Amino acid sequence: MAMRGDAAGPAVALPTDTGPEMGAAASRGLDPARARVRPLPEPRPLTQHGPARVVALCNQKGGVGKTTSTINLGASLVEYGRKVLLVDLDPQGALSVGLGVPAQNLDRTIYNALMERRTSLKDVLVHTDVPGLDLIPSNIDLSAAEVQLVSEVAREQTLLRVLADVRADYDYVLIDCQPSLGLLTVNALTAAQGVIIPLECEFFSLRGVALLVDTIEKVKERLNPDLEISGILATMYDTRTVHCREVFSRVVEAFGDTVFQTVIQRTVRFPETTVAGQPITTWAPTSSGASAYRDLAKEVLAL
Ligand SMILES: Nc1ncnc2c1ncn2[C@@H]1O[C@H](COP(=O)(O)OP(=O)(O)OP(=O)(O)O)[C@@H](O)[C@H]1O
Ligand SMILES: [Mg+2]
Repeated sequence: MAMRGDAAGPAVALPTDTGPEMGAAASRGLDPARARVRPLPEPRPLTQHGPARVVALCNQKGGVGKTTSTINLGASLVEYGRKVLLVDLDPQGALSVGLGVPAQNLDRTIYNALMERRTSLKDVLVHTDVPGLDLIPSNIDLSAAEVQLVSEVAREQTLLRVLADVRADYDYVLIDCQPSLGLLTVNALTAAQGVIIPLECEFFSLRGVALLVDTIEKVKERLNPDLEISGILATMYDTRTVHCREVFSRVVEAFGDTVFQTVIQRTVRFPETTVAGQPITTWAPTSSGASAYRDLAKEVLAL
């Protein structure tokens, strides 16, 4: 099992619900997330940029915070002086929209870079309003790629191949995956060195994680020996509910130190940022959501 801080390997018994014996501290009203918090090192300034570390944000469950985390982790890494490229690998194009890029009107997107040998990622790259944060946009055109790639030579390595053109210019490439484990997601896992798994703190959140971990293992064995799970990120955390605290305790029991100590609280500020087309770090820079993603960036930089 390719988990950070767990050299001993797999044997993760994944719980699928919260039992009465679990999360005892959580049900006594203690906040298990707060109990894990340790001081984070200040990131070191960089004197030069690249080559990028590629990280995929992946979970086949929908609506768990993949896109929100891609945008806000990216924007936070930029605040620490890193150059960051965000890759929208979801035909829904939510990452592009969330950064104020009207991708549905674009003629050329990641689809063209993946499918046409004469189009490079540099041809489709967009600078966002946040200096140092660039975007490879996507729109519904990408949905055809899943089918068309099947007949390509080395179909799983297509994204890895096209990323070679831009890796030298960035410190991080973050890939926002669609909610599926199809060929596009396998492309992301093949191109990445790290995977961040956003996990919503609710009852069914752990269902399907075993399948995701299994897919990551297969990609590591067959296509990408460098791949490891950078961390599990608890999202939409509501300290007020016992249920949420219990789910979090279970996630920590299953994954130990692979769970980031930073948890992302549930707050209406995140849906607001989507409407604003901005990261929370610029839309509400002093909000707790912004500071949580800055903490996550510190953790990612310390890995
Ligand atoms: N911490 C949070 N608190 C409250 N709402 C949130 C939070 N994070 C994300 N959201 C909202 O939840 C919805 C789903 O989030 P997001 O789009 O990031 O998930 P996703 O995993 O990318 O979804 P999909 O699987 O559809 O791509 C969005 O409306 C977003 O604004
Ligand atoms: Mg998304």
